[in-house]
Amino acid sequence: MIKAVRGTRDLLPPETALWNFVESAVRDVFRTYNFQEIRTPIFESTELFARGVGEETDIVSKEMFTWEDRGRAESDKGNSLTLRPENTAGVVRAYIEHKLWDRGLNKLYYIGPQFRRERPQKGRYRQFYQIGAEVIGPPSAGSESPARDAEVLEMLATLLDRLGIQNWTLELNSVGSSAERAKFNDALRVALEPVKNQMCSDCQRRAVTNPLRVFDCKVPEDQPIIEKLPRISEYLDEPCRQHFEQVKEILKAVGVAFQENSRLVRGLDYYTRTAFEFTHGALGAQNAILGGGRYDGLSEALGGPAAPGIGFAIGEDRLVLALTESAEAVLRKPDVYIAPLGAGINKEAAHLARELRRHDVVVELGDETFRLKKSFEAATKAGAKYILIVGENEVTANAFALKNLATGEQVSVPRAELAARIQK
Ligand code: HAM
Repeated sequence: MIKAVRGTRDLLPPETALWNFVESAVRDVFRTYNFQEIRTPIFESTELFARGVGEETDIVSKEMFTWEDRGRAESDKGNSLTLRPENTAGVVRAYIEHKLWDRGLNKLYYIGPQFRRERPQKGRYRQFYQIGAEVIGPPSAGSESPARDAEVLEMLATLLDRLGIQNWTLELNSVGSSAERAKFNDALRVALEPVKNQMCSDCQRRAVTNPLRVFDCKVPEDQPIIEKLPRISEYLDEPCRQHFEQVKEILKAVGVAFQENSRLVRGLDYYTRTAFEFTHGALGAQNAILGGGRYDGLSEALGGPAAPGIGFAIGEDRLVLALTESAEAVLRKPDVYIAPLGAGINKEAAHLARELRRHDVVVELGDETFRLKKSFEAATKAGAKYILIVGENEVTANAFALKNLATGEQVSVPRAELAARIQK
């Protein structure tokens, strides 16, 4: 038997109804904040991610699905391509390629699959889905303002509340400018030098290549050492400090609760200043339901003009997991099962189904070869609220037997009143 590849999965009904519910709710929220959709390709040049996300990150150094695209002729130059592990680099590439700065401040969102070769477990897949957004534009359009950070965070709080997700925590930090981070990394290297041999093998490697990542370590024995390390907040300059203060002030003014977490450093290299994650208790080890932050230098790193930006990506798989408890309310069962009774009745039944569906009634349509007993079984299995019997007598009378499957009550309803009666 051929099975889905490790780390990928099929999304089946009824769960797909939850995905649709989530996506339509977030599109509604994006609309009221005046965000517009962007769709970028699911594969890009490998160089985009190497330069955008950073060579030293876990994502680029070991998790990308990359292949050599040779073109059709032997003489065609090879081209290294990669399935996108995230969408921010692609959006900023599109911003530069299409000169989107002409539009001032861009408020863009996307929904789609991303690919990372991670060890699969609950809430972590090799093909997963993100719902993300990016606010990006020239500095003259206000793209650097702390008002933008706060607005994005407030929108996320609204979105999670609207989806009925409870017990989320917003963790907030400022990771400063790249110059400050370079100084901080140096200080970390010095602080780690005498202790790194007591740490896990990952941390020993990080201490040399990317000391900041030590803060991601989950190994219990390493925690006392990490707790004593310097923090990025001690290295922020005055403009960064003030920017962070203003973000926090607005959040307090609009009533969005947050926790400062000086260990939050994020796993992608492009972040500057505001960095954040929303976590959710019910998710276990993979508890980050979304993450994001500012990336004021990314456009320049990709060869574009200055274009400060801030954005986030929600792990849609995890969002749906967090929602599963309250799922029942979202799933719409058929309102009515139409049971055609007797030869030649399928066409009458189809006509009725067409009329009812035009009135937004959810109809499951049976078949005239079914005996009445089998129709009842099928209607019950489908979870229909009513069964509607369409026999020769009913067609002649233009009134149909409608039975409530929960109460057993049965009434004869004239054709013109059926939709209203079913929807009552
Ligand atoms: P990220 O933190 O790498 O950020 O991913 C964002 C979210 O995607 C995570 O919090 C998680 O919910 C979900 N996620 C990541 N990897 C997996 C996986 N293997 N399986 C399931 N879910 C996963 C970014 O991707 C940035 N581009 C976010 C951003 C946008 N920053 C600024 N703008």
